[in-house]
Amino acid sequence: MLEMKPFTAIALVLVVGAQCTSLATATGPRVIIVGAGISGISAGKRLSEAGITDVVILEATDRIGGRIHKTEFAGVNVETGANWVEGVNGDEMNPIWTMANGTGGLNLRTFRSDFDHLASNTYKQDGGLYDEKVVEKIIERMDEVEENGSKLSGTLHHSGQQDMSVMAMQRLNDHMPSGPARPVDMVIDYYKHDFEFAEPPRVTSLQNTQPLPTFSNFGDDVYFVADQRGYESVVYHIAGQYLKTDRKSGAIIDPRLKLNTVVREITYFPSGVAVRTEDNKVYRTDYVREIIYVFRCSFSALFRIQLCYRE
Ligand SMILES: *[C@@H]1O[C@H](CO)[C@@H](O)[C@H](O)[C@H]1NC(C)=O
Ligand SMILES: *[C@@H]1O[C@H](CO)[C@@H](O)[C@H](O)[C@H]1NC(C)=O
Repeated sequence: MLEMKPFTAIALVLVVGAQCTSLATATGPRVIIVGAGISGISAGKRLSEAGITDVVILEATDRIGGRIHKTEFAGVNVETGANWVEGVNGDEMNPIWTMANGTGGLNLRTFRSDFDHLASNTYKQDGGLYDEKVVEKIIERMDEVEENGSKLSGTLHHSGQQDMSVMAMQRLNDHMPSGPARPVDMVIDYYKHDFEFAEPPRVTSLQNTQPLPTFSNFGDDVYFVADQRGYESVVYHIAGQYLKTDRKSGAIIDPRLKLNTVVREITYFPSGVAVRTEDNKVYRTDYVREIIYVFRCSFSALFRIQLCYRE
């Protein structure tokens, strides 16, 4: 997982067979979903609810969940991917939180986690803490710039054609026009941006991150998941609602889920699409509709993940 480039593997290609084209000539399923991460598994559920069950999910690894994954370490399960449910206690209920904590949900063990003490916990390169006041000032200015960024973002055309990077916005506010120079500026910039989005401000979309719907819709609170079943149980919870699962082991035994199936090539024709896998199998459908879920399940070095349904 560590060698995975951040922000890849998020795009979900959903290939939907046309309703009224010649399905008789189709050699494959009506829908091919590439990737059994939370996006792919959720897409399958949505389709299933809409009565579209002729689906194949192609997954490169030997499991579902993508970057939501746990591993055993010193006899306990620890997360190697997503670890927080972000956006809780706001106006709208975060569907992830409903599953993680809600009645009838998984009731995962979680802790409210805040980063209020960042200013008093920022260390110098050569040891020792930075002066809390100094760090606070930097954070305050960052927040101010971000507020301006949100305002600016709101004036941009929703088509995205006027979108700019967060760094461009920072420059417009005359904020670190040459990027962060002092180590302490780097740390705070990292915390505010790279840690959150798994990408530096230089390549982070202003429109898609400021303001951040995860927080503006679902609330500012974040909860740390510390449950031996793992955060991945949320993905299994969704999968279990439409994929055949072995009651005893919890393993998914649905033939529509093809694990260890690496997609090598997706070719679009006027008449359809062909998905070729590493073992040279070709899956076809008649018609293509590609849906990119901008899911922002961004993986970062610190294993923080944004979880937010957007469809
Ligand atoms: C989590 O669920 C419990 C039990 O239903 C509830 O008492 C608690 O308020 C919930 N926490 C949040 C933050 O919604
Ligand atoms: C935010 O925008 C206002 C109005 O344009 C400006 O006066 C202020 O300096 C900006 N703040 C920062 C931190 O750039």
